[in-house]
Amino acid sequence: MSKDKHVWWKEAVVYQVYPQSFADSNGDGIGDLPGLTERLPYLAKLGINVIWLSPVYASPMDDNGYDIADYRAIQPEYGTLEDFDHMLARAHELGIRIVMDLVANHTSDEHGWFLESRKGKDNPYRDFYVWRDGKTPGPPEDGGTPPNNWESTFSGSAWEYDAATDQWYLHCFSKKQPDLNWENPRVREEVYDLMAWWCDRGVDGWRMDVISMISKDQRFPDGKPKKNGFGEYGPYVMNGPRVHEFIQEMNERVLSRYDIMTVGEAQGVNLEQAKQYANAEGTELDMIFQFEHVSASKTTAGSFTGKWGVNKPQMPKVRALLNKWQLGLEGASWNSLFWNNHDQPRAVSRFGNDSPEWRVLSAKMLGTCLHFMKGTPYILQGEELGMTNMHFTSLDQCRDVEELGIYQQAVVERGVVTHDQMLAAFDNVARDNCRTPMQWDDAPNAGFTTGKPWIDVNPNYTEINAASQVDDPDSVFSYYRELIRLRRELPIMVYGTYVPLLEDSSAIWAYRRELDGKVITVGCNWTDTEQPCDLWDDDAGEVLIGNYATHKPGVLQPYEAYVTLR
Ligand code: GLC
Ligand code: CA
Repeated sequence: MSKDKHVWWKEAVVYQVYPQSFADSNGDGIGDLPGLTERLPYLAKLGINVIWLSPVYASPMDDNGYDIADYRAIQPEYGTLEDFDHMLARAHELGIRIVMDLVANHTSDEHGWFLESRKGKDNPYRDFYVWRDGKTPGPPEDGGTPPNNWESTFSGSAWEYDAATDQWYLHCFSKKQPDLNWENPRVREEVYDLMAWWCDRGVDGWRMDVISMISKDQRFPDGKPKKNGFGEYGPYVMNGPRVHEFIQEMNERVLSRYDIMTVGEAQGVNLEQAKQYANAEGTELDMIFQFEHVSASKTTAGSFTGKWGVNKPQMPKVRALLNKWQLGLEGASWNSLFWNNHDQPRAVSRFGNDSPEWRVLSAKMLGTCLHFMKGTPYILQGEELGMTNMHFTSLDQCRDVEELGIYQQAVVERGVVTHDQMLAAFDNVARDNCRTPMQWDDAPNAGFTTGKPWIDVNPNYTEINAASQVDDPDSVFSYYRELIRLRRELPIMVYGTYVPLLEDSSAIWAYRRELDGKVITVGCNWTDTEQPCDLWDDDAGEVLIGNYATHKPGVLQPYEAYVTLR
């Protein structure tokens, strides 16, 4: 018997809907809630249990809704509160729970609190945000300098000058996303209130945006200098001094009162910290997203650094990181499992092989490798079709505030990267890759919209689309459906312990799951060549799933995934 307490969110498969790109019901080129409602039967057919809905709140859309202007209103392009309630009710009828995105590290600069806050130092909302004097007073054009050297995630200073009071406000993301001041108890009360408001409406949980960043080191010191002259904010912002206290308070005040699931987006956490955020006693969150395995190809070489590289992640490194998380959290916490999301490029392009020859096989292999690990799997919309990166050819195709920011800084202002190099990096890691519209069928614009989509549809939609896959037993869709069905049927897939195998292989990722005398054996070939493999030499047992019609003894064929139970 495993020590894990049995709960529904451990047994669930979560599907991420990025509303802007999912389904457009009225031809304005933007996905919306009625569009999502219409497509719920598709998700029910896939078999998922939970939808993580990226933000649908009223927003100026500087960061596609991760900049909220009103937490209790729906973005008009997405619909109304009635549309939301209708979607929620329909989802519940189909056995699908809805998890909302809580973006509470920051708001939009158009949120009422910020509009008040910037009015003056005496305003009752002043301390809702982080205001500081510059190191040198006065506006930047007269030589004024920000309170410290921190660089925002989206390029440029993390501080914005405000002439009305000759002070600067902190924004770890875009300047339209001022950071809330969690030191202020009134801010925390407001956040707990709005969470309870949605829980009372019937939502089933929260994915918490950059929750590891809500507590800042109140000294606001300069960070380690980067090549571009700015400094790192990481150590002073991530896993800050009061973060666990705040989350425990939130848990007491809201989370513990509802039967919901919570997953915290936790950049920069290590195992020990993760065990606290998602402790098995349940005093904080149910699980967190860690990002080590999707940061494994970050580059420090070349003229610019960080995520903007062109390196392909190496399987042994990715495997070593996930093996560490699998073993490290055993019995103490719970893993979330993902290859991609709305911030990460498409799985099959990044970790698999999106050429026509190998796309389907490698997409199925990746699904296998992930879904048999221990934890709750997350599917990004379109992943179940083997949707690929966009392969952008021009800057006009890019919409993301992060891409436009780094382009401006690295190509235009500093000239350290050429246009072509930047687009090559975008091709590899840009967030827009996973935000292109869902590919429903081979009608114009992939059946996503009858109008002009807000971002280009991937031209490969005529080949890769849901309509051609839902009833094809050999499709990626049908394969994912089978992975999800197996999880419902096999407690060992959920609760079995994870045992790494063949850790020296540079080609094969293999492991066992063990529960109550039963054993699942998983072998995944991450290469496009046949590899010898003796995992099943003894008693193989029953075949659970595989992506080839015939498994050849003694080898794994290119991108083969093969799973047995005995
Ligand atoms: C998270 C979101 C990302 C957003 C950022 C700021 O990382 O996933 O999309 O840009 O936070 O809210
Ligand atoms: Ca629409």
